[in-house]
Amino acid sequence: MSTSFSVFDVLIDRSKMCSDKWSKYPESVIPMWVADMDFDSPNCIKKALNQRVEEGVYGYTHTPKALVEAIQSHLVKRYGWNVSGTHLVHLPGLVCALHLSVRVFSKEGDGIVVPGPVYYHLTKAPLLADRELTSVGMLVENGRWVPNMAELETACAKSNSKMLLLCNPHNPGGTVYTKAELLAIHKLAEKYDLIVVSDEIHCDLILDDLPHIPFASLNEDAANRTITLMAPSKTFNIAGLGYAFAVIENSQLRQAFNKERAGLIASPNMLGLTAAIAAYEEGQEWHQALLQYLAENRNLLAERLSATPIKMLHLEATYLAWLDVSALGLENPYQFFVDAGVGMSDGKDFGNANFLRLNFGCPKSVLEEAIQRIESALETHQAS
Ligand SMILES: Cc1ncc(COP(=O)(O)O)c(C=O)c1O
Repeated sequence: MSTSFSVFDVLIDRSKMCSDKWSKYPESVIPMWVADMDFDSPNCIKKALNQRVEEGVYGYTHTPKALVEAIQSHLVKRYGWNVSGTHLVHLPGLVCALHLSVRVFSKEGDGIVVPGPVYYHLTKAPLLADRELTSVGMLVENGRWVPNMAELETACAKSNSKMLLLCNPHNPGGTVYTKAELLAIHKLAEKYDLIVVSDEIHCDLILDDLPHIPFASLNEDAANRTITLMAPSKTFNIAGLGYAFAVIENSQLRQAFNKERAGLIASPNMLGLTAAIAAYEEGQEWHQALLQYLAENRNLLAERLSATPIKMLHLEATYLAWLDVSALGLENPYQFFVDAGVGMSDGKDFGNANFLRLNFGCPKSVLEEAIQRIESALETHQAS
């Protein structure tokens, strides 16, 4: 397969695709919110899907051995992580696994520790299940968002704390945790005997030359207390096909998870399975080109925003920039930029209304237009 960067420059009209992203705002607003890119998926995925659709007969389907092998090979190649096929749990999405984990591994009133601002399902999962959400602040250290470790220890030490929900790479903020940082977090999980759910859905979207370290791969104890959640959906833009997987090495935890899952959470559908095999087996070249394109978009955004009062820390991973707009003194920053024609995610949904999250997983020309709209809105605001 040959891929040139121009595939990411192509403008695709998604207005008639029932796209969540493109249905939220009127046509005059560029949607830059939900974590969904405006790029076509790689040809290898389209080819595999077409082939499967052509075959016809769409009955119940189990997970092919080829997918288990493709995942194992992906985890070894990218992270040096050897995972047994029996430790994988195949799922129709990652969010259901977050919610299910909270319900299986804790009981009403138990404390769930969550560093944030963070992707809102990590905080919603404990709240919807009547658990006590123990939020832990994040602070900026050496230009990166990291959990406040003193606060984290206090939270973990609470007598009702049972679980820790981690997002690595972090959404929003894009931190790729280092081994030292992960070991420090693990030390607390071990000391206070917490089950860890590590949402690693963005692990294949690292824009710098940094390794992703699966939390469960740190050591034997981490492997024993961790539910790792991963998916090809963000990386290959196939979220609508509904496929994710969990790695649960501890057989007691895996059995408990599977027991509650049975009958409640559907198996992944065959098109999701088909796409996942193609992505992991054949998508590497496209993936590399994507990372380069996203890094260029990140750099463009960072450079242009550096001339404005909006603050953006260096983003190590994801295509979701976390923008501090507090210096603008706006009453409703989210609405201000929607009115200016840029529909970002409201920081309030992640835990801080002084921030906005901008999705730059789009053609450069679209990003340029959005930046221009932001700059014009700022000029008008500053002049008023
Ligand atoms: C950290 C994180 N976890 C999970 C999800 C969604 O997972 P899924 O679509 O597989 O339910 C997202 C989507 O934005 C995310 O950013």
